[in-house]
Amino acid sequence: MSRPVTIVGNWKMNLNRELIQEFFFFLEEAKFTTNVVAGFAPQAIHIPLVMQHAKKFGFIVGSQDCSSEISGAYTGELSTEALKDMGVDFSLVGHSERRTYHKETNELLNKKVNHVLNQNLKCIYCIGETLEEREAEKTFEVLKAQVHDGLKGIEIKDPSQLIIAYEPVWAIGTGKTATSDQAEEAHQFIRRQLTEIYGEESAQKIVILYGGSVKPNNIKELLSKENVDGALVGGASLKADSFKELCE
Ligand code: PGA
Repeated sequence: MSRPVTIVGNWKMNLNRELIQEFFFFLEEAKFTTNVVAGFAPQAIHIPLVMQHAKKFGFIVGSQDCSSEISGAYTGELSTEALKDMGVDFSLVGHSERRTYHKETNELLNKKVNHVLNQNLKCIYCIGETLEEREAEKTFEVLKAQVHDGLKGIEIKDPSQLIIAYEPVWAIGTGKTATSDQAEEAHQFIRRQLTEIYGEESAQKIVILYGGSVKPNNIKELLSKENVDGALVGGASLKADSFKELCE
């Protein structure tokens, strides 16, 4: 089963207008083209700017989070309706920084995943265990709950709209990458859970990204694994030369 190789840069709370312009200027000068599905999740306020540039390269652009409500009196929130209306392609949901700093639970994230998919946007649903959970040999238990509770009751019409990002929390921003075998073991497990929910045919079509200190020097090894379909990249996606190398 061939799934499209997908590389998404999660820019978190970084970059400004000038740096974003320089980023795309570099890619233009380098006559960058790519065979992979590539994209960015910038800060929400930068989405329109990134979209202007992204079109030239065919990049997909998305948000780093969205509201668990549809619309209404929720000051400071970002609705999936507005994202759709602005022409955004996807939203991340459940990044570990949201789970940790904003106490987002699988139950809350279930509502977000549902709203994103209902708008026909791609949903990149992030899951992963902490170091403590790994050391207590709870990795698979945690992943199982994140998959089953986060996707509870959610039907998928088009399996390519749902993307799972496996990001072991201990590997995010730490320089410690999971070995390709550890990543493959987790991805296989996740695909088995998806098979239980959606059946073999659909589960085989769902892209599963690895995230956590992915760099140009380790991406090839990670992507050599059968169930690792791409990467969600933080730090190494902030510089255009390194992003270009990742896609190449
Ligand atoms: P990192 O971040 O590549 O800097 O480890 C990945 C992520 O948080 O998505």
